[in-house]
Amino acid sequence: MERVTDVPDSPAPSADPTQANDYDGFAEAYAADNESNLLNAYYERPAMVSLAGDVADRRILDAGCGAGPLSAALRDRGAVVTGVDASAGMLALARRRLGDDADLHVADLGDPLPFADGAFDDVVASLVLHYLQDWGPTLAEMRRVLRPGGRLIASVQHPFVDYAIQDPRPDYSATTSYTGEFTFNGRSVPLRFWRRPLHAMTDAFTAAGFRLAVISEPQPDPAARGLFPDGFQSLSTKIGFLFFVVEAPPPAADSGSGSDD
Ligand SMILES: C[S@@+](CC[C@H](N)C(=O)[O-])C[C@H]1O[C@@H](n2cnc3c(N)ncnc32)[C@H](O)[C@@H]1O
Repeated sequence: MERVTDVPDSPAPSADPTQANDYDGFAEAYAADNESNLLNAYYERPAMVSLAGDVADRRILDAGCGAGPLSAALRDRGAVVTGVDASAGMLALARRRLGDDADLHVADLGDPLPFADGAFDDVVASLVLHYLQDWGPTLAEMRRVLRPGGRLIASVQHPFVDYAIQDPRPDYSATTSYTGEFTFNGRSVPLRFWRRPLHAMTDAFTAAGFRLAVISEPQPDPAARGLFPDGFQSLSTKIGFLFFVVEAPPPAADSGSGSDD
């Protein structure tokens, strides 16, 4: 996603909202770009992996897994990963990467998740929540499928970038959509995002029963300095994405005294 490394630009006026977010249509181009570019491969993904920490034996749901690069990175570190995505085309690429026995499901994050309560130790959601107008039902479902003490680790478009990028500026306090033209592997496609103020994000997490543990604005992987000198300098000094770690509260501690003493 070239635009964010070079903010503030305005979304191209030609971007057509009715054609937006056709991940099935540009799955190959998106996945190829995501694989090795600065923004995903040397910034967003390493940040998610770092926030997740030691994931050995953890059951992790990759919500909006796309072609599965984060799933693969977490699986390499010992996690047991399940992926869901609304795009069958993206999931086909994930299956090609992760193997025929990978646990992958077509699912819209606006709908109930096809998993039992407490099925996962962590949910990761890389760059997907900003496609949703209403985070409430989605976060409630993520909370439901997490065990007590489990974590949701999410990255989103930074609300300050989403505000600054538009001309004229939107109402910062409102949740509004905008469509911009993005280039993936040489192919230009329209993406439509829902932007919202920072407090609407934190309020949505807490309303769903999560506790905020980390809000992060990480730096890109230093390994990218030599590979992308201009982009690295730009991304290191401007606003990129915003990252959250929020926790499902652990079970209440047993007082141990009982009521019959
Ligand atoms: C920017 S891509 C990120 C993919 C992957 N998380 C990664 O970082 O490589 C966004 C992904 O979210 C998926 N997506 C968008 N809206 C969705 C929804 N409502 N439910 C499930 N997946 C959705 C898209 O199909 C796409 O694969």
